[in-house]
Amino acid sequence: MPKKMIHDFYKMKQAKEKITWITAYDYPTAQFVETAGMDMILVGDSLGMCVYGYPGTIPVTMEQCIVHCEAVRRGAPNTFIVGDMPFMSYQSSVEKAIENAGRFLKEAGVDAIKLEGGRRILPMVRGILDAGIVVCGHIGLTPQSSGQLGGHKAQGRTAESARLLIEDALALQGAGVQILLLEAVPPEVGKFITEKLSIPVLGIGAGMHCDGQILIVSDLIGQFQAFTPKFVKKYCNVAEIIIAAMKEYCAEVRAGNFPADEHCYHMLEGEYPKFMEMTKQYADRPFAGEAGDCRRAPSGD
Ligand code: KIV
Repeated sequence: MPKKMIHDFYKMKQAKEKITWITAYDYPTAQFVETAGMDMILVGDSLGMCVYGYPGTIPVTMEQCIVHCEAVRRGAPNTFIVGDMPFMSYQSSVEKAIENAGRFLKEAGVDAIKLEGGRRILPMVRGILDAGIVVCGHIGLTPQSSGQLGGHKAQGRTAESARLLIEDALALQGAGVQILLLEAVPPEVGKFITEKLSIPVLGIGAGMHCDGQILIVSDLIGQFQAFTPKFVKKYCNVAEIIIAAMKEYCAEVRAGNFPADEHCYHMLEGEYPKFMEMTKQYADRPFAGEAGDCRRAPSGD
């Protein structure tokens, strides 16, 4: 399948064809995603929780994001990849934002970057766009500023907070942002913003009216165990499958049933009798305790 680019997503919005998006953090998962025919991949800063076991996204660094984007690009060479700018990689200055956004393209070959926030990050968004980089906005529940939001809470649940989101969405589109991600907002708000904007609006926990959906791969496959947000649908439970497989492996090793003959490298034709003959020279040579033998038996002192 040919790689879809930003103009294809605009066409899909116009044709009311839903856009599919998922996160991936590593090479094998990226291969699965591309094989499944997904339209886009996000190498999200959710890798902090899903890969590194951090309590949130705040500790995630540029270096981690770049390394994971590189791996995903190798696994999905024909998929549109968005790199996620981690906390403090763009908030402190326009220059820093442009430099870090550029690193995603130069070092990891992604197609676009995503950053969280509305009107208050417009100078950084404009700077990155002026550098010729495709930008995806992210408003609603923005995990990097969840402290200010009072936790990981749905946004836009009052008319006034919905108005602020609409203003943010319009400002981002006005600045030239090409894609918008809406997280954890009521479906009514998701619908209004999706219909109001000409750019593709993708949702996570933003209802069924968005132009497309994204899920975190570790949630979708039932790999992430710490918590499950309301907007997640688990399409399978790989944790159960993996744990069952590991238990079976332990049991087989303990019982001496693994490895079996089919897992062994046998000697070449005619070599076994020669091997047996050769080993006779060791008959009177004890290994343990012999000077210079790295396999010396532990002496216990
Ligand atoms: O980092 C991430 O995975 C995200 C999700 C909300 C899609 O931004």
